[in-house]
Amino acid sequence: MPTPHNNAVKGDIAKTVLMPGDPLRAKFIAENYLENPVCYNEVRGMLGFTGTYKGIKVSVQGSGMGMPSMGIYSWELFNEYDVENIIRIGTAGAVTDNVNLRDIVIGMSASTNSAYADQYRLPGTYAPTASWNILSAAVKSAEEKGSIFHVGNILSSDTFYDDADSLAQWQKMGVLAIEMESAALYMNAARANKNALCILTVSDCPLRNLSTTAEERQTSFRDMMEIALETAVKIN
Ligand code: HPA
Repeated sequence: MPTPHNNAVKGDIAKTVLMPGDPLRAKFIAENYLENPVCYNEVRGMLGFTGTYKGIKVSVQGSGMGMPSMGIYSWELFNEYDVENIIRIGTAGAVTDNVNLRDIVIGMSASTNSAYADQYRLPGTYAPTASWNILSAAVKSAEEKGSIFHVGNILSSDTFYDDADSLAQWQKMGVLAIEMESAALYMNAARANKNALCILTVSDCPLRNLSTTAEERQTSFRDMMEIALETAVKIN
């Protein structure tokens, strides 16, 4: 059944979905890496495609920006479309000093300043965590590719422009990088008893006032896509 946000019917979407924030990146992956891609969603421009990569069925769909948007799309994929694995691929800002522009960051856990977990009414602080099976496959894929990568805690923030300027506090706690979606993805996966991982490429260093050029972003995004696709093959 289509949802208010997705035209797909059950069976249109593969059990593993790659989710970039930007739907045009989903289109790029479908057109450049998948065989026989079919577009299954155009609602709100949040494009989704299913095709094959090295013989396995894979889907790619935009998540939009921020946890409310990721929350909606990933919830529907897990709970309405029988998706088993979601691999977010996106950009992040470096937080710790040893993470540099263009490095890959794999989110083992996602701290957050969002209230997303309030809905579960837990008597404590939940720790949104990646799924080990996808995490270990992604580490192998990043090693095979020879990429510079880091694995650890990331921060999923509700704000891009943050008045409190609190990044230095998160840095003290060893947070590697900041982005805006993964904590909601990890919580939706846990609640649905499904699997998720986030692979990021560092596009800027907010504490050092550095950012990549558009061309650098394109190249490092390609490396990350290839790691994610190889990860999808390994967990199939
Ligand atoms: N903050 C939040 N999200 C981001 C950033 C950032 O600096 N860079 C890329 N995604």
